[in-house]
Amino acid sequence: MIPSFTFFATAGTVENVGATPVFTDIDPKTLNLDPQHAGKLLGADQQLQEKAKAIIPVHLYGQPADMDAIMELARRFDLTVIEDAAQVLGAEYKSQKAGTIGHLGCFSFFPTKNLGAFGDGGLVVTNDDSLADRVRLLRVHGSRPKYHHHLVGTNSRLDALQAAILRAKLTHLNDWTGARQEHAAHYDERLSNVEGITLPHRSYDRTHIFHQYTIRVAGGCRDALQRFLKERGIGTEVYYPLPLHLQPCFRHLDYNEGSLPESERASREVLSLPIFPELLPQERGYIIKTIEEFFTESGI
Ligand SMILES: Cc1ncc(COP(=O)(O)O)c(C=O)c1O
Repeated sequence: MIPSFTFFATAGTVENVGATPVFTDIDPKTLNLDPQHAGKLLGADQQLQEKAKAIIPVHLYGQPADMDAIMELARRFDLTVIEDAAQVLGAEYKSQKAGTIGHLGCFSFFPTKNLGAFGDGGLVVTNDDSLADRVRLLRVHGSRPKYHHHLVGTNSRLDALQAAILRAKLTHLNDWTGARQEHAAHYDERLSNVEGITLPHRSYDRTHIFHQYTIRVAGGCRDALQRFLKERGIGTEVYYPLPLHLQPCFRHLDYNEGSLPESERASREVLSLPIFPELLPQERGYIIKTIEEFFTESGI
């Protein structure tokens, strides 16, 4: 089971192992997997209960999902919890690092991530020795010793050059996270009076490392705001414009528009503003001023 509102890789990996993704809706406040919805789907479907093997909460934009409820659900329905921690490195849920709460946690070092390599890279963490052993095997074509293959894996080693770069950058991660949080606090303060947008929700029991600072723009104005900002030299991004249950490659799963309304609404409303440690206060001020201008000029 996975949330529909996430990057494609969360679902792609499910299909790639021969399983079928079951999409759940999201909590409209945090935009993370809604454990209540997942529980409802499981509770109402005996076949699904028998077949479901794993649940993959995604800690979207840098804020951990509701892990207590997800772990409880996993216990009840005997599911493995694989945390998609690609966007959450360093954030905490009730003082525990996100990615270390479930059975497995998967991190990404894609260049745009808070800790980005100069190419692709990633990391899997687990406290389970047998899972660790299996992941180590999978990463080198299932081979141990060399040229003796116990299972069919893939080539997924972190290459030494990327590891060296990440090691050097890692020493700066806390400072960079602090800078992102400071930018977010400024955005929060200055944008809280702008009618027409909803600021990122912060749950009191977890930290947010602001991989993205994502506002919601209701009333069908999101794309107009994005264009307005672009024309004034401000780049923004929509993560993600089409929820996974409506992607053409999943048509065979028989979801329709309206199946997962909160994921669909989020896809229409979200807009991620520039947030990176090096953002200058004057740049941040310009972004805020331009957003204010949009709402004043358009009279929304
Ligand atoms: C939520 C999420 N899951 C999975 C991935 C995949 O990570 P990678 O690109 O390192 O394979 C990404 C980012 O790319 C992501 O944002």
